[in-house]
Amino acid sequence: MKITQVFIVTGTPGTGKTTVSTILSERLRARHIELSKFSIENGYVIEDDVERDTKVVDMEALGSAIGEIIEKSSSPVIVDGHYAHELVDGPLISRLLVLRRKPWNLKSVLEARHYSNEKVWENLEAEIMGVIIGEALELIPGSKIFEIDTSNQTSGETADQIIEIIEGNASSKPILDWVTYPETMELLLSRSCTS
Ligand SMILES: Nc1ncnc2c1ncn2[C@@H]1O[C@H](COP(=O)(O)OP(=O)(O)O)[C@@H](O)[C@H]1O
Ligand SMILES: [Mg+2]
Repeated sequence: MKITQVFIVTGTPGTGKTTVSTILSERLRARHIELSKFSIENGYVIEDDVERDTKVVDMEALGSAIGEIIEKSSSPVIVDGHYAHELVDGPLISRLLVLRRKPWNLKSVLEARHYSNEKVWENLEAEIMGVIIGEALELIPGSKIFEIDTSNQTSGETADQIIEIIEGNASSKPILDWVTYPETMELLLSRSCTS
C-alpha cells in the first residue's frame, strides 16, 4: 500500500504558514494546498461572515476533498491553514507543524493586512493563549506535533527547521507559553488603553 507523506502547517494567521509552505513544497517536491485559496477556488465557502471578517467553509466536504487528494497523490502533500489540523484525519498525518510568533511582533503583520481591530485582537488572543497548539494536542499524538517560533528567523530558516524535523533529527520541545512574557502583558495593557 502506498503511504503518502502528509505535513500539516498550521498556526495563527500571520505566523508564516503560506510563505514557509511554498518554500517547503519546492524543496520536498510536494503538493502545497493553501486551504483559504483552495476552498474559494473549489467552492467550499458556504458563508461570508462579514461581522467576523472571515469566510466559513464546509469542513466536511473540504475534508473529504483533501482526503481524496492525499489518497491519490504520488508526492508528499502539505496542507497549509489555521484549521488544517482539524481537517485531516490524525492517522494520515506524518508531522504537524504549529508555527508560532511572538504576539507583540504578530500585531504589525496582522495590521498590515488591514484586518479590523477586532480581527487583529481575536488572532492575537488566540496566539497568546496557544489555542491552535491546544486543539492539535487534543486531536493528534504529541509525538507528531512540533512548534516553531518564526519570530526571529527567516522563512528559509523555518523551512530548514521543518526539514530537520521531517528527517527525524529533531525532538519535540516543551510548549511555548507567551503568557509568561512581560511583553505580552504590555501588549494587553496597550489594548485596554486604546479601546
Ligand atoms: N520566519 C518566518 N517564517 C515565515 N514567514 C515569515 C517569517 N518571518 C517573516 N515572515 C513574514 O510573515 C508574513 C506572514 O506570512 P504568511 O506566510 O502570509 O502567514 P500565514 O500564511 O500564516 O498567514 C509574511 O510577510 C512573511 O514574509
Ligand atoms: Mg496563509
